[in-house]
Amino acid sequence: MTRKRIVAGNWKMNTDLQDGYTLMKEIVSNVHVEDLDKCEVMIFPPYIHLKTFINTINGSGLVLGAQNCHYEESGAYTGEVSVPMLKSVPVEAVILGHSERRQYFNETNETVGLKAEAVTRNGLIAIACCGETLEQRKADQHFDVVAAQVNEVIAKVEAGNTDKLVIAYEPVWAIGTGVTASAEQAQEMHAHIRSLLEVRYGAAIANEIRILYGGSVKPANAEELFGQPDIDGGLIGGASLKASDFLNIIRA
Ligand code: 13P
Repeated sequence: MTRKRIVAGNWKMNTDLQDGYTLMKEIVSNVHVEDLDKCEVMIFPPYIHLKTFINTINGSGLVLGAQNCHYEESGAYTGEVSVPMLKSVPVEAVILGHSERRQYFNETNETVGLKAEAVTRNGLIAIACCGETLEQRKADQHFDVVAAQVNEVIAKVEAGNTDKLVIAYEPVWAIGTGVTASAEQAQEMHAHIRSLLEVRYGAAIANEIRILYGGSVKPANAEELFGQPDIDGGLIGGASLKASDFLNIIRA
């Protein structure tokens, strides 16, 4: 098993270009080579920052990514950005199906699956998000909800492209709330997700696919979460906007 950890910062709709640039510089200049030996570090700023950031990130070993994309290559889709456009920046990764996109922008399991197929086919890393709401967990539907989300993605991603596939489990009730899933709750869901990957791709591939946890990850809880056998790193929201917190999570 050779799963390299990932710590990814999802900046969401935060920072203007100047503030974002300052934050990016601070992260790049304080990440150590030893950090990157153990862990891939990815930054997902707003789209308009990408072209500016590519020069800062070049040669740093960090990965630059986008927070969304469209699954079509080009055409009459006003306001959308395609995978070939992202590739031309060039960015290397894309977050897909974040719960905020599902909640506010009508993202469905089907569109997330189409996007995951397009991203991995084009050779970019897809971080496909899944996660249940509090109501679904209370109704004991969380395993089924996550299975439906993940299965739609893996049905569309070819076995030959799974080196580009990352799953992020982000329980909606833990995002931006300060309430983290316990290490046991997270591990239990990650093991469930890995079993779905095994059904689709077989054990060898399933054991290579990274599964990240997201939802109120902080320097204080990162080590315990990342210590679980099926948790391969984190997708970080709020704490990725403060360089010192983000760096401490990387070191955890
Ligand atoms: P927080 O870390 O702010 O809870 O956000 C998690 C998240 O949504 C990352 O994609």
